[in-house]
Amino acid sequence: MQRLYRKRIVLGVGGGIAAYKSAELVRRLRDHGAEVRVVMTQGGREFITPLTLQALSGHPVHLDLLDPAAEAAMGHIELARWADLVLIAPATADLMARLAQGVANDLLTTVVLATNAPVALAPAMNQAMWADPATQANREQLLARGIRLFGPGSGSQACGDIGMGRMLEAEELARAAADCFETGMLTGRHLLITAGPTQENIDPVRYITNHSSGKMGFALAEAAAEAGARVTLVTGPVFLPTPDRVQRIDVVSARDMLAACEAAMPCDILIAAAAVADYRPEVVAPHKLKKDPSTGDGLLLQMVRNPDILATLAGRADRPFCVGFAAETENLLEYAARKLRDKNLDLIVANDVANPSIGFNSEDNAVSVIDRQQHETRFGQASKGHIARALVAFIAERYKES
Ligand code: PMT
Repeated sequence: MQRLYRKRIVLGVGGGIAAYKSAELVRRLRDHGAEVRVVMTQGGREFITPLTLQALSGHPVHLDLLDPAAEAAMGHIELARWADLVLIAPATADLMARLAQGVANDLLTTVVLATNAPVALAPAMNQAMWADPATQANREQLLARGIRLFGPGSGSQACGDIGMGRMLEAEELARAAADCFETGMLTGRHLLITAGPTQENIDPVRYITNHSSGKMGFALAEAAAEAGARVTLVTGPVFLPTPDRVQRIDVVSARDMLAACEAAMPCDILIAAAAVADYRPEVVAPHKLKKDPSTGDGLLLQMVRNPDILATLAGRADRPFCVGFAAETENLLEYAARKLRDKNLDLIVANDVANPSIGFNSEDNAVSVIDRQQHETRFGQASKGHIARALVAFIAERYKES
């Protein structure tokens, strides 16, 4: 159930005997990759302890609207914004009635009012309470407001009755929760993306680097995460915030970047947007280099080749679908096509960095993607975010065909 991967679920636990199933539900949701924060009503706490749900969810349970300490840690508005889905299981007759009326007299009902995320209820109550016209009217009202109902199911009940009102089982609820999310183009895929420059030390205070800001690689990581992928972003030193739901690994040198990429393998798709230093000083001086009168005004640095990260990963037995970037100042398409062949790539994104408005550290980009058949697809000038989303859609399409 890849659709739950990295989804953020606020699980509301109401005061019904079915609350014991919420513990299993937390486990199932987490097994499917979701992050779960639990909010309990006063009644819920009578049936299952917050400690149990804290241990299973891995986070403190949210209990009170008027608890200054809890509000300072993650307040009700933050919780409401954080959620991709608010799922209430069990939803008692009382909770349904309060929600139908838009009452906000505890933390859970307040979160429901404050969230823009979908809300789903798993009703659980005695069959006569479920059949009561008041509950049915509340049910209609909730459905009319776009709130989803998962169940209830029918069968024997804790009170001895038989009929409608049983809460669905944990796995059924996890599946229904997954159905709330669309499948993205890259759902279930692991993308490894490199970004930014590398720094190659000369001595303890100096290094060789380039003008890459990381903007292009970070925009790709964000677009890939939006498309549902699990994203590992290996980046050289940059000053950018980590995109939401992206696992970031910071590195300094080309050799660090290669080691981090190898550790992140296997992946389905590799996008190498980093501007990796091709050479590094052969020896890193242990102390700050001093001006040497014997060499006059010159300084000779002996450089050695760095490993090629992209070519190394493209040469592995578990080779991913490989997308390179080529930053060129002349003969753009010819040089890019050569890199595609030499590095054994599936696609290469040719980037004309002679134009300062679309290259290193710019807000915009304009690129051509070349495939193995030498077909060129042009993406006209637009923000790096826009180009990244278009590239991710294009790459996902080509990956599926491969
Ligand atoms: O970071 P920004 O400021 O947003 O700028 C974006 C960018 C211009 C850096 C980016 O769009 C880009 O073009 N990145 C590739 C830069 C580059 O120098 O490419 P290259 O021609 O040296 O390398 C070709 C490909 O091999 C690249 O995918 C590169 O990541 C990879 N490579 C290169 C050398 C090496 N040792 N290891 C590699 O993996």
